[in-house]
Amino acid sequence: MVSKGLLRLASSVNRRRMKLLLGIALLAYAASVWGNFVNMRSLQENGELKLESKIEEIVEPLREKIRDLEKSFTQKYPPVKFLSEKDRKRILITGGAGFVGSHLTDKLMMDGHEVTVVDNFFTGRKRNVEHWIGHENFELINHDVVEPLYIEVDQIYHLASPASPPNYMYNPIKTLKTNTIGTLNMLGLAKRVGARLLLASTSEVYGDPEVHPQSEDYWGHVNPIGPRACYDEGKRVAETMCYAYMKQEGVEVRVARIFNTFGPRMHMNDGRVVSNFILQALQGEPLTVYGSGSQTRAFQFVSDLVNGLVALMNSNVSSPVNLGNPEEHTILEFAQLIKNLVGSGSEIQFLSEAQDDPQKRKPDIKKAKLMLGWEPVVPLEEGLNKAIHYFRKELEYQANNQYIPKPKPARVKKGRTHHS
Ligand SMILES: NC(=O)c1ccc[n+]([C@@H]2O[C@H](COP(=O)([O-])OP(=O)(O)OC[C@H]3O[C@@H](n4cnc5c(N)ncnc54)[C@H](O)[C@@H]3O)[C@@H](O)[C@H]2O)c1
Repeated sequence: MVSKGLLRLASSVNRRRMKLLLGIALLAYAASVWGNFVNMRSLQENGELKLESKIEEIVEPLREKIRDLEKSFTQKYPPVKFLSEKDRKRILITGGAGFVGSHLTDKLMMDGHEVTVVDNFFTGRKRNVEHWIGHENFELINHDVVEPLYIEVDQIYHLASPASPPNYMYNPIKTLKTNTIGTLNMLGLAKRVGARLLLASTSEVYGDPEVHPQSEDYWGHVNPIGPRACYDEGKRVAETMCYAYMKQEGVEVRVARIFNTFGPRMHMNDGRVVSNFILQALQGEPLTVYGSGSQTRAFQFVSDLVNGLVALMNSNVSSPVNLGNPEEHTILEFAQLIKNLVGSGSEIQFLSEAQDDPQKRKPDIKKAKLMLGWEPVVPLEEGLNKAIHYFRKELEYQANNQYIPKPKPARVKKGRTHHS
């Protein structure tokens, strides 16, 4: 009995213990489940945080790209006039990324026309017209005019040709091809689409003139085998081609004989007297004068030229017209004026005369005045100050190592850079 009682007591104690142990085990299990759960949560949270920051790392540059794209879509263009369909012209400018061509592009775009610039970027640069890129009235085509071009246009300003001596002498054969084959291609295009073509000819067709000032009926004095012949004779034959197409094919042509022009966007190493003197004065280097400095030049500011080109294109004058500023100065006067405007202490250095360097160059612009109602209006000092400001900025960019697409170097193979 006693033993049975003891057994029962023992088993009831064991059951209680068992229950207690079971309870503890359950609690421990629950605690471990809870612990794991909490651990998993925090692991998950950490993981989520890491994932989020990884995503952020990838997304942020994309967001930046979208912002840039949005900015480029909402780019502010210079103000453009609205022209009705009837007045709005489709205009091709060959060499439109060059010095003169880019200013002409600005004028025609702002006047409300549709402008297509064709350029092979030999001496031009995209930066000159980049402020129009993306505009619905503007198109830029990388094309060499020596190859044919098929495009629908109403007017063609044919400017494609290197213009400064070091550039056109670098590859005389290419200069000849551009001015001959290139001009034939553009005249062919004008004929095909019934467009009017304006040729940017040059005062160089007068060569080293025996008459002074030079009027349009002067036939010129050009050395056909000299170092400048590729350009001078190239332009002379380009004029001949224009009149052959006019007479034989009825193409409407305009010929501008452009005299020395200067202004912002000129090439840093253009090699002509204005840019040479400004850069030398700004950098405190001697201003180099070839010969005695008594040879004369007359310079027009680029905005005057652009107005003259547009007036000529829209006139009914099909014979050649001089566009230039008749205000004549000796090279030495230019050197002194530029030195003073820059406020430079540079000396003036005399070097030996350059071959075939014309002694006198001054346009007779009676015809332009009479038939186009055009004459230059920008005073020399005002224009020079604008050009000086431009060159000063370019030098600053270079000094600060800021990225600027470099103008094509003035490539001189033989001989030396000399004034035009
Ligand atoms: N600037 C002057 O003082 C002056 C004087 C007389 C005549 N011109 C004439 O005016 C025009 C423009 O002169 P600029 O001073 O602006 O010269 P520039 O060198 O700045 O411009 C000429 C443009 O034509 C482009 N070009 C050259 N060959 C080409 C080709 N084969 N195909 C396509 N594009 C080509 C160049 O890349 C450049 O953009 C030239 O025809 C030049 O002969 C200029």
